[in-house]
Amino acid sequence: MQKDRIYRVACVVGTRPEAIKMAPLILTLRADGRFAVTVLGTGQHTDMLQQALAHFDIRADVNLNIMRDRQTLDHITSAVLTGVGGVLDERPQDMILVHGDTSTTLAAAMAGFYRHIPVGHVEAGLRSHDMALPFPEEANRVLTDRLASLYFAPTGGDAENLRREGAPPERVHVTGNTVIDALLWTLGNLKRQKPSTGPELLRTLPDGAPLILMTAHRRESWGEPLRRICGAVGELLQERPGLRVLIPLHKNPTVREAIRRDLGAFAQGDAPQVLFTDPLNYPDFVSAMDRSLFILTDSGGIQEEASALRKPVLILRTLSERPEAITKGTGVLAGTEPGTILREARRLLDDEDYRQSFANRGMPFGDGTASVQIRDIIAKYLEGRA
Ligand code: UD1
Ligand code: UDP
Repeated sequence: MQKDRIYRVACVVGTRPEAIKMAPLILTLRADGRFAVTVLGTGQHTDMLQQALAHFDIRADVNLNIMRDRQTLDHITSAVLTGVGGVLDERPQDMILVHGDTSTTLAAAMAGFYRHIPVGHVEAGLRSHDMALPFPEEANRVLTDRLASLYFAPTGGDAENLRREGAPPERVHVTGNTVIDALLWTLGNLKRQKPSTGPELLRTLPDGAPLILMTAHRRESWGEPLRRICGAVGELLQERPGLRVLIPLHKNPTVREAIRRDLGAFAQGDAPQVLFTDPLNYPDFVSAMDRSLFILTDSGGIQEEASALRKPVLILRTLSERPEAITKGTGVLAGTEPGTILREARRLLDDEDYRQSFANRGMPFGDGTASVQIRDIIAKYLEGRA
């Protein structure tokens, strides 16, 4: 890198998972005098973004605050494009880093591309190969990868997807997923803080009470699929009165209302089987994953974290852009049909050897060094351009 030249890098974050997965990279870049980092929050999420950033002691340098209640895809995309574009005009950058597959990701990548600012895509190359699943995330990541100049692929398979689509091989780097950096960092802190960890709610549970953790939020799950998922959980709870399910509800009102409507009856009384909470802060959520027998989720990030925590995860989707979870067996694609969800959940509850076998299935999504690798690749790339 040229002596005395400091490279300006904007890190864009809009939603909770972007914040958690970009945080270790932001901290790594900030600790390195070669970079001047601007954290550009789009505010696609409000409280959930703040909560995630706060855990890592990061404040957005700019927050566009674009969120509206029950916002549309058109609104997010247009507001982020205009807002990020304005910031890039005011504060010219040598590189813009976007993460994953949200509407923030695509619109921010477009704003960079329109200004000839190279776009680095963190968590590049994931593909379900079906534009409708997940919607609109598959389109967001495919289009972002068309615009990007530098690709940080979590796995070899993701890198292969990119090369097959024509990305220049020398621009594609397999780094692992930064979520593993975030998770290991947080687990290290939790160990140091013991014993005061974990959400308050869990401390009210009888010792050893069987617990499942559940989250759901995907757009394509809204309506019937979510109803079927909740139906399966309700049936499981009815047949096992000692079982508890912890559900940190996503802030999206469409999802909250649906889950509360279908499972609210189990949250009543002195010993409720369903424990609803607002989104948990990251360390509490990590503790909750750790305390659970297994996890039911349609989330992307949680599939990755579960593998590193050696926790079984039933993926409430019909396909995954994270095929390594299925091929390595760290996750089971349970879909949204009650029969399959029930069969897989009963197996995990009743067969301890099977449940324990998830401890030996490997960590396909990285080893906790992704951020450092990405920093070094960016440094080399910018040096080459200078
Ligand atoms: C978004 C992403 C999805 C990602 C998810 C992570 C898109 C299109 N969707 O979905 O890819 O997996 O985030 O969680 O980019 N809300 C609040 N407070 C918050 C956050 C959300 O009240 O802090 C409510 C608002 O009413 C908002 C709604 O949730 O309009 C939906 O938020 P939005 O970002 O559009 O979609 P998500 O379902 O969160
Ligand atoms: N998460 C959290 N608190 C919660 C639920 C999830 O901190 O109450 C974290 C989780 O550990 C993971 C990320 O949020 O890192 C996943 O976000 P989400 O499921 O909203 O999005 P996705 O990964 O599906 O895009």
